Amino acid sequence: MRRVRGRDEGIHVLLRRLLASRRSVRLFSSRPIRVDDLLFVLWSGYGCVDKYCRRRTSPSAGATYPIELYAAIRRGGVEGLGAGVYLYDGRRDLRLVRGMDVSRSLYEACLRQRWVLDAPVNIIVAARPWRTTRWYGAERGMRYVYMEAGHVGQNIYLAAAALGLGTVAVGAFYDDMVSEIMGFGGEVAPLYVMPLGYPRVKRR
Ligand SMILES: Cc1cc2nc3c(=O)[nH]c(=O)nc-3n(C[C@H](O)[C@H](O)[C@H](O)COP(=O)(O)O)c2cc1C
Repeated sequence: MRRVRGRDEGIHVLLRRLLASRRSVRLFSSRPIRVDDLLFVLWSGYGCVDKYCRRRTSPSAGATYPIELYAAIRRGGVEGLGAGVYLYDGRRDLRLVRGMDVSRSLYEACLRQRWVLDAPVNIIVAARPWRTTRWYGAERGMRYVYMEAGHVGQNIYLAAAALGLGTVAVGAFYDDMVSEIMGFGGEVAPLYVMPLGYPRVKRR
């Protein structure tokens, strides 16, 4: 592929800086997140890039798109949005699916990792595996689903870093507890819990 030159010469320099600045953040301030910033992070993770949402910001095996993104918002966590669990539609819509603050229950389900409790928002990367396994079979299909969660997680990391926010990919949790808290039922599997917020500088 030909290297982009001219006006776009600087993009790879910016990308390099962004990639190098990405770090897992586990100390969060209580400062609320702007709703536009939350939407940007979600869009970067798994947003639609065309009119009919046939393609998204993350690659998907056979364009089967098994991933779903949820935002569990603490009370006062996002300016102008109430506490609750919201399903992201890939554009700008957040549909309320549970109208309560679940951050303490998520914290318990994530083996009491403090950052899950402190963050104003927890993004839950979940999947409807059958969308992929019906084409590729159970074993290969699940492998692809896990790979896709990784792509989405990295995009979320990078978008957070670009906005001066922080996140950490939490994989250690009780699946059944997270599913119950989120109201998932049997068809949706939680894969990552990603606390999101402004980093807090540790006092000496
Ligand atoms: C699959 C996976 C699971 C992870 N699970 C956790 C976790 O449960 N808790 C946590 O604090 N960090 C978790 N992490 C974050 C790693 O600890 C972190 O990426 C690693 O220490 C490297 O640091 P960096 O992300 O700042 O480069 C996980 C990362 C991955 C990729």
